[in-house]
Amino acid sequence: MSEKKEKEFVLETNHLGIDFGGLTAVDEFNIGIGKTEIMGLIGPNGAGKTTIFNLLTKVYEPTRGNIILDGKDTHGMNPAAVNQAGIARTFQNIRLFDKLSVEDNVKIGLHNHINYGLFTGVFRLPKYWSEEKKAHEKALELLDIFGMADQADVRADSLPYGAQRRLEIVRALATGPKILLLDEPAAGMNPSETEELMKNIKKIRDDFGIAVMLIEHDMKLVMGICENIAVLNFGKVIAKGSPSEIQSNPQVIEAYLGTKKENA
Ligand SMILES: Nc1ncnc2c1ncn2[C@@H]1O[C@H](COP(=O)(O)OP(=O)(O)OP(=O)(O)O)[C@@H](O)[C@H]1O
Ligand SMILES: [Mg+2]
Repeated sequence: MSEKKEKEFVLETNHLGIDFGGLTAVDEFNIGIGKTEIMGLIGPNGAGKTTIFNLLTKVYEPTRGNIILDGKDTHGMNPAAVNQAGIARTFQNIRLFDKLSVEDNVKIGLHNHINYGLFTGVFRLPKYWSEEKKAHEKALELLDIFGMADQADVRADSLPYGAQRRLEIVRALATGPKILLLDEPAAGMNPSETEELMKNIKKIRDDFGIAVMLIEHDMKLVMGICENIAVLNFGKVIAKGSPSEIQSNPQVIEAYLGTKKENA
């Protein structure tokens, strides 16, 4: 992460922090993410990584600091408004509409951008059908990123775990984000699935021209695809830099040696 130059960042935070009662979960979180950058957020269990995603997406209102998305302060926005403004995420614990089909899960993401009014939808006017057709085609196109178009009609809860994680990414992408936040996307995946995921995250960044911020304990993935990494420990950034800078940083090594988490 080079010096901050405002215009180049899709997402920027200044002095961002949150307290839960007496616990300071995140403090002085300052980052700038380039418009097509892949950034990693790593750190031991309980360091505050997911809390940062919850702050960025306004699940939690920050206690202090600000968040600038594409030059605009997100202060006062709720999670839906932030999503509309360009931040999409996946969750550490998968959140899909289990009983809906794979395609319908993606269409829920697309819905933000489907261009028909309530009147048109309720009365099934021609515009409704043409927009529906577009949504169907778009959903299949997005599913195809992960080779999942042929599973469009399958119920989400009948997919294997790794495929559910991929579907969550597709659903997030369907909302048309400028930045995609992925919370442990490789969790529960086997090594070949993780390898495939790494390629696809890069492909998504290249094809969509968006930024990606990811939390991950799999160091091979983090070091393999992130251009910049921030290391969090007890709610504070203890190091920022390229993968090689991070790997040789004594404070980082110490923070990790202090944990028992495998792969961390
Ligand atoms: N809503 C909340 N109320 C109180 N404490 C919270 C809340 N959310 C998070 N915390 C606390 O904030 C700290 C950071 O938690 P967080 O889930 O962000 O960690 P993490 O880095 O994502 O860890 P992991 O790698 O295990 O997912 C923890 O001490 C957690 O208990
Ligand atoms: Mg977490």
